Amino acid sequence: MHLTTTKPKRHRAVFHTLTISTVEQLTDEAIAISFTVPPSLKDEYSFEPGQHLTLRATVAGEDIRRSYSICVSRRRALATGELRVATAVVPEGLMSTWLHENAEPGEQLQVMTPIGGFTCPTDPSSARHHVAIAGGSGITPVLSLLTTALEEEPESRVTLVFANRRTDTIMFLEELMDLKNRFPDRFTLFNVLSREAQDVELLSGRLDRERLEQFFEAFIPVDDVDEWYLCGPLGLVETAQEALADHGVDGHHVHHEIFHVEGAAPVAPPPPPDAKPLALVTVTLDGRTTKVPVKSQAESILAATLRERPDAPFSCTNGVCGTCRARVVEGEVRMDRNYALEPEEVEAGIVLTCQSHPVTDEVVLDYDA
Ligand SMILES: Cc1cc2nc3c(=O)[nH]c(=O)nc-3n(C[C@H](O)[C@H](O)[C@H](O)COP(=O)(O)OP(=O)(O)OC[C@H]3O[C@@H](n4cnc5c(N)ncnc54)[C@H](O)[C@@H]3O)c2cc1C
Ligand code: FES
Repeated sequence: MHLTTTKPKRHRAVFHTLTISTVEQLTDEAIAISFTVPPSLKDEYSFEPGQHLTLRATVAGEDIRRSYSICVSRRRALATGELRVATAVVPEGLMSTWLHENAEPGEQLQVMTPIGGFTCPTDPSSARHHVAIAGGSGITPVLSLLTTALEEEPESRVTLVFANRRTDTIMFLEELMDLKNRFPDRFTLFNVLSREAQDVELLSGRLDRERLEQFFEAFIPVDDVDEWYLCGPLGLVETAQEALADHGVDGHHVHHEIFHVEGAAPVAPPPPPDAKPLALVTVTLDGRTTKVPVKSQAESILAATLRERPDAPFSCTNGVCGTCRARVVEGEVRMDRNYALEPEEVEAGIVLTCQSHPVTDEVVLDYDA
């Protein structure tokens, strides 16, 4: 693993079997799971803070994949040779419930190499103000991003506005308090609780637009911030994005990650095997090029690709995680929905293949770009 980098690395997204080293109970509803990374895989699992791992397991006879953000600083991952994720139980959630019931030290799991664009390269010579607005389990990538910024940028300041229901539901509370002790002059933490009264009125209640504006007014002048990180429920992220846009903040400095969007994107039934191709997509994946016929308007490029290349990476198939991303080299595609890519990635021709359909008769896609 490397300590500092100048831009997010693109790994070949592949699964390896990793062994769980520890499981920590964070709250009644959340656990942290650490994996040992063997020395032979250290380079493959080097990561940019903010990136996530896709875990794969057979649950109730179904092969499922879900993304979990790395929640450890780069320095700590380097020192321990371990990666850590955390999961909060989602009622009736397949993977989160399965992990809570089955994850234990010594167990092995299929873990994809890190991916994701919710990152901001560190620069040890800069003196920046990084501000994160996080809700609930949205703390996971933010913990890695902010701790790494404090550890790798000695002149930078960090502020976290963290929304939860009650004190006993706050993930990583102890670690955040430790961070305050380690960096008393450079780290400021505001815990906002929606269902527990606190002495300070600003910290009691929902973190809505009005409360955000009060934070900007009293403690976080928007012009004083260099990089913003938003992660949590869709409503919170969208409210913060709108507020920052209204204050004229350049979207290139507003990084966001969403874990879940209500309502699944439509899934097309597989086309009949003898259906005629409507378009031809040429896919380069892991250095190998494959011709993929797309046989219906409704099926996604990912679904068509998986028939020819079962090794194509994916996780949510819902436009949220970004695991299926590829670059359009030639031709044009349309996306149904996109909650994963930053505007500059879309400008650079990156698409989510699980949400993409060919517009032109021929499309050339590069997963390795
Ligand atoms: C990039 C990325 C990073 C993520 N990082 C983390 C992380 O660090 N920690 C973490 O706990 N989760 C994280 N998630 C969410 C995680 O991938 C799963 O979606 C979550 O654990 C639920 O999966 P499940 O199989 O238990 O639920 P499912 O069986 O998929 O869903 C069960 C029901 O719950 C709803 N649902 C699914 N997910 C959520 C949710 N997050 N909130 C509310 N309702 C939901 C579904 O619509 C469905 O009705 C991340 C997601 C993404 C895309
Ligand atoms: S697989 Fe998650 S965005 Fe496509």
